[in-house]
Amino acid sequence: MKTIRKAVIPAAGLGTRFLPVTKAIPKEMLPIVDKPTIQYIVEEAVQSGIHDIYIVIGDNKRSIQHHFDKNIEFEIYLKERNKQDLVSLIENVSSLATIHYIVQEQALGLGHAIWCARDAIGDEPFAVLLGDMVIDSQVPCLQQLIEIYNEKQSSVIAVQRVKWSETSKYGIVRGKQVNKQLTLVSGLIEKPIAAPPSNIAIIGRYILDPKIFDFLEEMRLGVGGEIQLTDALQGLIGEQPIWAYQYEGKLYDVGDKLGFLQANVELALKHDHLKENFKLFLHKSIESTEKD
Ligand code: G1P
Repeated sequence: MKTIRKAVIPAAGLGTRFLPVTKAIPKEMLPIVDKPTIQYIVEEAVQSGIHDIYIVIGDNKRSIQHHFDKNIEFEIYLKERNKQDLVSLIENVSSLATIHYIVQEQALGLGHAIWCARDAIGDEPFAVLLGDMVIDSQVPCLQQLIEIYNEKQSSVIAVQRVKWSETSKYGIVRGKQVNKQLTLVSGLIEKPIAAPPSNIAIIGRYILDPKIFDFLEEMRLGVGGEIQLTDALQGLIGEQPIWAYQYEGKLYDVGDKLGFLQANVELALKHDHLKENFKLFLHKSIESTEKD
């Protein structure tokens, strides 16, 4: 049985939906409560049993690397001031996983970013987690997919039903539903503008067979003039089954301004040290804005 040991996190996008803040700061470094978005994504992979992580970065994304690197001077500074709890906090970040960085020289799309990791991945199935989708769930979303992969031994993608008016924002799948959560995919289309085949959307977590690289290698340009992972998956269907899994959890699209605010509010309301005071603040703040 093949196991999933490696994950790719594409984080080389330009963050145009979140300008102007993303002019100089990668969207993956925007904080949700007290951690940058990408740390939530790395933690999800680690909690799913993956310790070998490949982050695909653009040329201007060194701050991501700095976040996960050890910062000895800062640790010494905190130790000298007896702030052992803070030392542990930053030590934990740098020892989360073995993180490798791959630079995508040109922003040619998600499919191209994954293709950049081909040598690092080699001939084994691997996970992909998109950097701007944060999922709050009891069982990490990626672990849910790995469980399906272990049973089916072929590619699995996480999906959820979205409003029909929003299908043009996602890759959309159609197929034969075999039970409440599982669909055998028969077709995929990236961001359909008209006549979406369903409202079942790809949400940014994948377990992929390495055969996907053969299709990415074709470098076919798709929607937006970019090399799309969805198009390569459409090619893969001809050779292997692909399963779409309706995961359990709550999704936040933190690359979008509203999704980012929702994630911050809802995760702050679950934060051990903040939740009580933050809840009071929200109540007061809603009351006072309603009076205005
Ligand atoms: C990417 C994928 C798309 C998927 C989406 C989820 O698009 O290409 O299939 O539905 O992520 O967020 P992006 O939003 O990066 O353009």
